[in-house]
Amino acid sequence: MADLLGSMRRTHNCGVLRKEDTGKTVTLMGWAQRWRDHGGVIFIDLRDRYGVTQVVFNPEHNADVHKLADTIRSEWVIAVQGEVLERPDGMVNPKMETGEIEVMVSELKILNKSKTPPFMVEDNVEVSENLRLEYRYLDLRRPRIAKNIMLRHQVGACVRAFLNENEFLDIETPVLTKSTPEGARDYLVPSRVNTGLFYALPQSPQLFKQLLMVAGYDRYYQIVRCFRDEDLRADRQPEFTQIDLEMSFVGEEDVMGMAEQMIAKVFKEVMGKEVKTPFDRLTYKDAMDRYGLDKPDLRFGLELKEVSSIVEGSDFKVFASVVKKGGMVKAMNAKGCAHFSRKVIDDLTAFVAVYGAKGLAWIKVKEDGSWQSPIAKFFTDDEKAAMADALDMAPGDLIFFVADNIKVTNDALGHLRNRVAKELGLIDENEFRFVWVTEFPLVEYDETEKRYVALHHPFTAPMEEDLDLLESDPGAVRSRAYDMVLNGTELGGGSIRIHQPEMQEKVFNMLGLGQEEAEEKFGFLLKALAFGAPPHGGLAFGFDRLIMLLSGENSIRDIIPFPKTQKAACLLTDAPSEVAFEQLAELALRIKKDPAS
Ligand code: AMO
Ligand code: AMP
Repeated sequence: MADLLGSMRRTHNCGVLRKEDTGKTVTLMGWAQRWRDHGGVIFIDLRDRYGVTQVVFNPEHNADVHKLADTIRSEWVIAVQGEVLERPDGMVNPKMETGEIEVMVSELKILNKSKTPPFMVEDNVEVSENLRLEYRYLDLRRPRIAKNIMLRHQVGACVRAFLNENEFLDIETPVLTKSTPEGARDYLVPSRVNTGLFYALPQSPQLFKQLLMVAGYDRYYQIVRCFRDEDLRADRQPEFTQIDLEMSFVGEEDVMGMAEQMIAKVFKEVMGKEVKTPFDRLTYKDAMDRYGLDKPDLRFGLELKEVSSIVEGSDFKVFASVVKKGGMVKAMNAKGCAHFSRKVIDDLTAFVAVYGAKGLAWIKVKEDGSWQSPIAKFFTDDEKAAMADALDMAPGDLIFFVADNIKVTNDALGHLRNRVAKELGLIDENEFRFVWVTEFPLVEYDETEKRYVALHHPFTAPMEEDLDLLESDPGAVRSRAYDMVLNGTELGGGSIRIHQPEMQEKVFNMLGLGQEEAEEKFGFLLKALAFGAPPHGGLAFGFDRLIMLLSGENSIRDIIPFPKTQKAACLLTDAPSEVAFEQLAELALRIKKDPAS
């Protein structure tokens, strides 16, 4: 087949030409986005990943080229050569970066045709996400998505540059490996040569990066794919990317400081935004007390306040009995929200029910200072005065209360706080508010498993101050873990690790991992720790989440080149899919039609 391009080569991309280029002869190649015929003159918006340039076919300029241009349809691939002209007065398009010029075409080659695309390849078109994902290569042509993909590249490059400058080594770790406990289910890969045995895809490179520290590679990083078989949400994918790092001979502040500088550099170089370092620090306890969540959005106030001690003796039995049972009563003063209707309050009651709250009591403070409330009648004047004082009540305020166990109360009010802030427009969407949450509990009690489980992961070191509680009161031990939170989203997390085998064994023990099980699962780690493991720690950022926040997108799928759906399917390739019987036989596997049987 003839070489369609011939000697034609691009001189410019479709996003760069400006008024200063007027008079130049240029060659552009790209996709025909919009096609318009004005009085016999054809205008095409030619698109590539850099932008869009208007190219013009005038029969008076070149009749043959014009005739050929008349056949072009949406998404055909073309090459044009012509002269850059300043657009006539009144035709300038200030919305387009190339809007001051157009290219008068003298030579045209059709490089390929296209079927009519299933949706317009433009931003702001109404199209279902499933269709977009099925034709992702067309979706990726849309400027908004292309911008996200380019941003992703830029951030990755900036991160690499920063870490390279700081002596971090980019070291690969295996994908076919053994289960790593990050709290989700593993994706398993059957081994053909070892019949009946399985690899697990890594939920993170956690153990390998620790082994690299033992090996003396004291600063490691990797922008690495991780796999977690978990229930998906808007900000989760079954395979996602981490910026993973680990350092030796460090404490919390060293790792957090390095991570802050890295993020500050990304914001400066990629977004042109100055981020103030060091970031605020908030202990887990303070975060829970004041915001109800371990990833608080600090762009607004609406702090929570516990009122258990005020209401424990009250006549409102719901409150009194919850406190008696060891639960808590907590309140949030939604300042100036007394105008919220019954319907709105009912909606918010349904909203907190999702988090397990059995009700949402409320008080409206009227202009004369008196209360309108279904529960006001239960309180004495003293109790009322104490509440008014504790909650800083003023006319026009609306106070919400949840009474339940500590977990439900915090969860319900924490999410209510975010929701009310959104509804009241209290959130400045242009603000990036960072905070480190520190001193997480080392473990939490799992009611279903009837044992303690690691809050971060079992390799996280306990705080020195709490070591004497390890056996007597595990739930009270704080860990050396830290999370970086941005605008209410957990961007990344990590910890200082246990580097002594005795301590690691102790923690495994506390987690109910018998010696045998610990040996079987993590024997290689215990063995390695015994060969001179340096003190070390690190963290991992959710790369996708970072890009999502930087791009302002609401879905992680809009910043991943080839994402999966909420049901973990790839609509483009139709994965996962059935495999041939022979393939299963080779792996000594058989599919049960009914997995439950
Ligand atoms: P962790 O499990 O907290 O820590 O994960 C680190 C960060 O990865 C992101 N993340 C996800 N992003 C998209 N989809 C998912 N399914 C998903 N799961 C997690 C989050 C999270 O903050 N090995 C430890 C890190 C360490 O201790 O160094 C780890 O993986 O943004
Ligand atoms: P009741 O006495 O059940 O009609 O409840 C009176 C008010 O208290 C209603 O506004 C309920 O939503 C609220 N309420 C009931 N249970 C709780 C609870 N556990 N926490 C907070 N408010 C509650």
